[in-house]
Amino acid sequence: MKTRQQIVAGNWKMNKTLAEGCELATEIAQRLKATNAQVVLCTPYIHLPLVHDLIKDVANLNLGAQNCHQEDKGAYTGEISVEMLKSVGVDYVILGHSERREYFGESDELLAKKVDKVLAGGLLPIFCCGESLEIRDADTHIEHVQAQIKAGLFHLSAADFEKVVIAYEPIWAIGTGRTASPEQAQDMHAAIRSLLVEQYGAEIAEATSILYGGSVNGGNAAVLFAQPDVDGGLVGGASLKAEEFITIVEATK
Ligand code: 13P
Repeated sequence: MKTRQQIVAGNWKMNKTLAEGCELATEIAQRLKATNAQVVLCTPYIHLPLVHDLIKDVANLNLGAQNCHQEDKGAYTGEISVEMLKSVGVDYVILGHSERREYFGESDELLAKKVDKVLAGGLLPIFCCGESLEIRDADTHIEHVQAQIKAGLFHLSAADFEKVVIAYEPIWAIGTGRTASPEQAQDMHAAIRSLLVEQYGAEIAEATSILYGGSVNGGNAAVLFAQPDVDGGLVGGASLKAEEFITIVEATK
């Protein structure tokens, strides 16, 4: 039976030259102490092969991509396939980040296809969801996030769904320094888990990792991760500094 895993994933976004990225990965690999958590470095595409070599022998340190294309291969200039990601040692793929949804127009339908492709390739999706400030203010955030999850994931069989990691990232908390309160995070994570119970049953819902993202840092990680339904974090800005990222990893349960 699968058990729930604590996970801390660093989303480097479009930051770091190749040399800087290798330096960061090396420092994280050196500083990471034995941990129960799975740690994931989601680097820009061009960093992946070199970062893979730098971290491959470190226990619990994994490689992630920030996106992928939904087709196998072909005339899709500028895109990267799941097969390509596999060929450089990627384990996890972030899908549906709010920046992809907003700036690149990624729809729920497209994301459902990407989820299928990632799973068919044997990789693990980190599926992002989250509401804007407008939606939060209108008090429809729970329905909004539940609808994103239904549309992106609920076509999956139980066997496939078990491989999915969910990341709740309220858009108003991303890169703003304004994190969700531990109670706000817990309320949403509990609402997500109860939706999973309805669709896949209690055993699978209990075993699903639900990460919080949005201005997680070395100072607030412990109180967020202490919430019963918060199983780690998806970290942007604070993942670009090795020491702070390690502090966040050490804040997991
Ligand atoms: P910040 O941690 O910089 O707010 O970014 C969160 C995020 O978008 C991670 O995917």
